[in-house]
Amino acid sequence: MASGVFLNGRYCAPEEALVSVDDRGFLFGDGVYEVIKCYDGKFFKMQEHLARLRRSAGKILLELPYTEAEIAGVCHELRQRSGIKNGLVYMQVTRGAAPRTHYFPASYQPTFLVKITAMDPGIWLEHRQGVKAILLPDDRWGHCDIKSVNLLPNVLAREKARRQGAYEGIFIHPLGLTECGSSNFFAVLEGRLVTAPEGERILSGIMRATVLELAAAASLPVELRYLQPAELPLVTEAFITNSSDEIAPLLAIDGKPVGEGRPGEVTLLLLEKLDALKGSL
Ligand SMILES: Cc1ncc(COP(=O)(O)O)c(C=O)c1O
Repeated sequence: MASGVFLNGRYCAPEEALVSVDDRGFLFGDGVYEVIKCYDGKFFKMQEHLARLRRSAGKILLELPYTEAEIAGVCHELRQRSGIKNGLVYMQVTRGAAPRTHYFPASYQPTFLVKITAMDPGIWLEHRQGVKAILLPDDRWGHCDIKSVNLLPNVLAREKARRQGAYEGIFIHPLGLTECGSSNFFAVLEGRLVTAPEGERILSGIMRATVLELAAAASLPVELRYLQPAELPLVTEAFITNSSDEIAPLLAIDGKPVGEGRPGEVTLLLLEKLDALKGSL
């Protein structure tokens, strides 16, 4: 599969990209990341992703080693060098390599990785047919707004879902349904689109924001609140969003069909509007 890497100032093949065993990303998960989709040679919402990377880094007191314009330049260069038209850029910045102690090193050089990998559009198009989800307790920390590389609860949630024949795990917090292992959650209830509000309980997804913009443009009523588990039987449609899957309808949650168990009309309308937006890039 086509791919290419930029690591600490150097373009190289993935197998030549080496990171120290003392890297704090490896030892402590002391770093943040981003994932940006590339459609037909164009990056989707690059500025929004880079702004979020800067916000995430700022929240862990880590200064990015490059400006947003420089990082965008690296993404374009990697794409051109690799010849990839459809793919994902993964970027990660950590507090660098230093002797292992929890305290921040007195001085350090952040480790900065950008990797582009080709992705067959068939993968996200298949997810448009619908996927299944399970519910599980939201046992994550209190700063889910930071796109941190500490993803153990998310990894365990998605693996648990997979073992139960589902694609995604939806987190239930005492406040209500927050989001999923690697996506935001939306429900349609009495004709209104319901999704969790921004704050420390969710990652503010770029695709979530895009869906909210599309919904506003289509005059769809939106409620930013946590859906309650008791409301689930009343939900007529549900879907998840993230940059790689875009909008994936939920056909069933915990084995119970959502609505009629097929992608609903609000979800299909939003998918149509998303395609029009992508087409206009
Ligand atoms: C926990 C979590 N929530 C939401 C999202 C969706 O974010 P985005 O739409 O920016 O890809 C992700 C994406 O990876 C995620 O990991």
